[in-house]
Amino acid sequence: MDLITNVNEYEAIAKQKLPKMVYDYFVSGAEDQWTLQENRNAFSRILFRPRILRDVSKIDLTTTVLGFNISMPIMIAPTAMQKMAHPEGEYATARAASAAGTIMTLSSWATSSVEEVASTGPGVRFFQLYVIKDRNVVAQLVKRAESAGFKAIALTVDTPILGRREADIKNRFTMPSHLVLKNFEGLELGKLDKTDDSGLASYVSGEIDRSLNWKDLKWLQTITSLPILVKGVLTSEDTKLAIQAGAAGIIVSNHGARQLDYVPATIMALEEVVKAADGKIPVFLDGGVRRGTDVFKALALGASGVFIGRPVVFSLAADGEAGVRKVLQILRDEFELTMALCGCRSLKEISRAHVVTELDRQRVAPRL
Ligand code: FNR
Ligand code: LAC
Repeated sequence: MDLITNVNEYEAIAKQKLPKMVYDYFVSGAEDQWTLQENRNAFSRILFRPRILRDVSKIDLTTTVLGFNISMPIMIAPTAMQKMAHPEGEYATARAASAAGTIMTLSSWATSSVEEVASTGPGVRFFQLYVIKDRNVVAQLVKRAESAGFKAIALTVDTPILGRREADIKNRFTMPSHLVLKNFEGLELGKLDKTDDSGLASYVSGEIDRSLNWKDLKWLQTITSLPILVKGVLTSEDTKLAIQAGAAGIIVSNHGARQLDYVPATIMALEEVVKAADGKIPVFLDGGVRRGTDVFKALALGASGVFIGRPVVFSLAADGEAGVRKVLQILRDEFELTMALCGCRSLKEISRAHVVTELDRQRVAPRL
């Protein structure tokens, strides 16, 4: 593990260590997995316009998210069932995030409860919400997250039905029987033991409320005073509706390319959303962030911060809490290096002029 020099290296180790069914669940995207590749490829098409001779002897990576001070604009996205990756699961992730001074988002479908994660110690944490059909259970869970000290709700809006992840269908994916979806322990909802097709797809089709709509965002505000981030926005139209409906922020996300295939990479959708948000609420991004250069590119295109998903589950599988800590440290170091080499001393100095996108190049080409 000492020789690991970049975040991607954890994936191969996780593949060796994990049962095939679990690794396939973590790694997969939907259908042709075009968007899965595009989430990475699109970052590689963005180039830098670095500035020089700007005294980069001191670099400040700190930022504020929804009023909370964090050490860097790199946070942890919600990923379900982390105890499939490592026995300490979400506990290890929570401790690693808190040691790095950043935010962890806990999934509704975690294998540790909101109370258990809160008991790991101090730290700014968000709670990801899936709205299930039984609204009383939803309201109770949101209250529990609030009481446990979670600071925001990330409402996932891109999953009325689970995307088709073909490996999960072939593997008849199901959660190992010793694990429980801990936020729902004691309820029928706590078990994920269906084995037809993808067990998760069957679970989602039975439990998730497909009728979810913009009015429910208003409803959510009547049951909690926590700020609500809308996770899964890809268009300007929906950005405007989210602002009208009272969202505190937006997460540009395609669910790690696990839902609708052939949506653009999130880094391609980001500028449209940022323009529509017009500075009224912060915009975040997740999907394919694997390098400090990716973090810089997202910020240059207007994101206030990014979230990482798979790098956390793979490093957790490889080396538990130490792995997640190292992933956060590597991304931090790479991001700091990128800032120095682009001549930026604080996040405020990262600007649109520091990057060239494909669209920029197409616009310039006719004049060349
Ligand atoms: C996810 N994601 C997710 N999102 C969510 O809102 N609730 C959840 O429970 C999960 N679970 C989950 C499990 C696994 C294994 C993955 C890979 C993803 C999506 C996640 O929050 C995030 O949007 C993506 O993971 C970001 O893309 P990268 O960083 O994985 O490329
Ligand atoms: C997934 C769900 C749990 O992507 O969000 O697997």
